[in-house]
Amino acid sequence: MTERTSMHGQWSSRLAFILAATGSAVGLGNIWKFPYITGEYGGGAFVLVYLACVVAIGLPVMIAEVLIGRRGRQSPINTMRCLAKEAGRSRVWSLLGWTGVLAGFLILSYYSVIAGWAMAYVFKAGSGVLQGLDGAAVGSVFSALVSDPVQLVFWHSLFMLMTGLVIARGVQSGLERAVRVLMPALFALLLVLLGYALTSGGVARGFDFLFSPDLSKLSTGAILTAMGHAFFTLSLGMGAIMMYGSYLPQDASIAKTSLVIAGLDTLVALLAGMVIFPIVFANGLEPGAGPGLIFQTLPIAFGQMPWGGFFGTLFFLLLVFAAWSSAISLIEPAVAWLVENHDMGRARATLLVALSTWFLGLASVLSFSDWAFDFSFLGAQKENGIFDILDLLTSNFMLPLGGLAMALFATWVMRRADVVEELAMGDGAGFRGWYYLARYVTPVGLVFIFLNGLGLL
Ligand code: TRP
Repeated sequence: MTERTSMHGQWSSRLAFILAATGSAVGLGNIWKFPYITGEYGGGAFVLVYLACVVAIGLPVMIAEVLIGRRGRQSPINTMRCLAKEAGRSRVWSLLGWTGVLAGFLILSYYSVIAGWAMAYVFKAGSGVLQGLDGAAVGSVFSALVSDPVQLVFWHSLFMLMTGLVIARGVQSGLERAVRVLMPALFALLLVLLGYALTSGGVARGFDFLFSPDLSKLSTGAILTAMGHAFFTLSLGMGAIMMYGSYLPQDASIAKTSLVIAGLDTLVALLAGMVIFPIVFANGLEPGAGPGLIFQTLPIAFGQMPWGGFFGTLFFLLLVFAAWSSAISLIEPAVAWLVENHDMGRARATLLVALSTWFLGLASVLSFSDWAFDFSFLGAQKENGIFDILDLLTSNFMLPLGGLAMALFATWVMRRADVVEELAMGDGAGFRGWYYLARYVTPVGLVFIFLNGLGLL
């Protein structure tokens, strides 16, 4: 076989890939988004569908996406074109790279704004303004922040700048080092918070909300959103993991690695839920409060626990880092493509992408004040106009459709022998199990959830 190498570099080891991919997967999706959409869609039943989607859809797609990336070793656009050609199929498949680049751009535009909230909270927690506040007071601190576009633009700009700096420096020097320390620290801090949550007096109701599924509460919108979130939280369907796969050394096992990444990501999300919901119920707050949920609950915990100012600052700081290591994976595919096809240096390519993302982000900034409008989407009430639309469009539609295309590409378009060779796990039960899932179960399940969600079934 002709082994390709990536012109953009390679991870130094399998562990480096696991760290980077976990850094991409674990982010605002786990700690900010998972709790708030679980709250909006009614709890346990939603969690159950999300877990099922991670296993039956997310994991097979992740393996497909990594293997496509490692075989192509270029930006998703060129990888898809190259592998389609290798299989003697149409170049139309490179469209998948394009929609991925677009999805990454749309997601990062609002992701950066939310990361900006977390940055603002690093300083709020540090300065002590959150100490000893009750639920109502914490809520008004949050409203004051999001209704002030000037502050939000400041933090959003700073976050885009940080993201751009890492991207401009390149994969290894930039990405690898940051993640190595920060992920374990975030995990440890979540455990500290769990300790608080367990004594907050809301554990029974919180865990009940999270873990006892009432399937009658499950709307079609909830199922579609749970599936969309499986993609979002695992960074799947837009080429981020494909790009990271393209930097993976040839001898690393793709299946095992994917299992580790999906497992860690799910663990962090469940931990976050187990921290947030006891606090919500102990303080009589509303689980369906929306995107502000963690910012309206965690400060209460920090305000009451010993060393709360210190832990609060550290927590939001780590959240910013988790968001940072996710954000870079959202624009890496676009930057890599500009470098490959337009003979641009990394710095100029980064500047171009980061500036346009920043600009679109202004629409999300204003979605929480001047431009806010309500609408309902498949049974859920949304209040934040363009921000919500960008999120629904990408998570519930673009990512799952991208993931569908990747699963189909790896199992129907690529030659089976090539896939066997790339996964390098032999042609035994493990391989066949994945192949069967990705070839039939995942696509059928995905299409079913889609049609069902859209009311066509
Ligand atoms: N997975 C990240 C999170 O949960 C967000 C993210 C990073 C992402 N890269 C992505 C989502 C690519 C979709 C596609 O916060």
